[in-house]
Amino acid sequence: MRRAENIVTLGEMMTPLLNCPRVDAALGLTAGGALLVKDEGRLPTASFKARGLVMAVSMARELGITRIAMPTAGNAGAALSAYCTRAGIESFIFCPEDATEVTIRETALQGGRVYSVNGLINDCGKIVGDGVEKMDWFDFSTLKEPYRIEGKKTMGIELAEQMDWQLPDVIFYPTGGGTGLIAMWKAFAELEEMGWIDAKRPRMVAVQASGCAPIVKAWEEGAEFAEPWPDATTLAHGIRVPVAVGDFLILRGVRESNGFAIAVTDESIEEARARMGREEGIHLGPEGAATYAAYLQSLEDGRVSKSDRVVLFNCGSGLKYPMPPAGQRIDISKPIDYAIFQ
Ligand SMILES: Cc1ncc(COP(=O)(O)O)c(C=O)c1O
Repeated sequence: MRRAENIVTLGEMMTPLLNCPRVDAALGLTAGGALLVKDEGRLPTASFKARGLVMAVSMARELGITRIAMPTAGNAGAALSAYCTRAGIESFIFCPEDATEVTIRETALQGGRVYSVNGLINDCGKIVGDGVEKMDWFDFSTLKEPYRIEGKKTMGIELAEQMDWQLPDVIFYPTGGGTGLIAMWKAFAELEEMGWIDAKRPRMVAVQASGCAPIVKAWEEGAEFAEPWPDATTLAHGIRVPVAVGDFLILRGVRESNGFAIAVTDESIEEARARMGREEGIHLGPEGAATYAAYLQSLEDGRVSKSDRVVLFNCGSGLKYPMPPAGQRIDISKPIDYAIFQ
């Protein structure tokens, strides 16, 4: 980046690393053990997608790109539309038609042209790929341009800084396209090269939903690449990615770190989301809740221990997703029955 006027911003900030003392106590964690949540829902457009897109859109502006297209589960499209509008770039966004209504409307409200597709994210990706020449679009799909991943490295750098340059023992990451995991792994290597951290690395855990777990299957089979996952379904839309372009990079990071890949059911995701809200007042999105479910499962089967310092990534705000109905009605035309508040 040579010209500072091309840098776009919506006020990106460091996201909090929240402790979970009630969960720690309930699980009986031992000395040194702790559960921490990196809450990415605080970023502009309420997800970690802002990290990659603030960087990539700034570079696109610097390089004179005027029309950008992207397939998305929802959150990336919201971030792309916002930053493109700030940069004076047109954005064309394609998402599965069951993406959350909030994200689709948010994307449109921020100036993007958004289309709902009766297919999955890979079907959206094909529309973009096939339109590149016809429409003069620049393809912003995961790992098809080099800068989104560079922006996402800030997750790892920030985490190192927040933990006083001592990385945690384990990171649970909700893995769709896997860019966050790949980017953190790259950031840690670069930090060590610069002498900012030592050689100790966290074990990287790729968390997927059991209805779409190509990386878990490949990890279990010892394969270098993942096979496309047929009929992908999960309520955690951000990790409903049947084909990941960077599958081999995710698997490499997981293996090099001595981590693992794990699948959790949608029921356990919903339970974990409710539990974290109830126990700690932290509202995880379904993808973040998947990491909590995976942590609980791994603690039970012994893949992580009670003395591990563990970080869960909540990559997006829970507020964008449906929540269970709640609230009791009070009729002010009748005397208030205070007994119900006991
Ligand atoms: C909230 C949320 N979590 C996790 C992911 C998966 O991210 P990655 O592509 O880095 O695997 C996404 C991607 O859309 C997301 O929106």
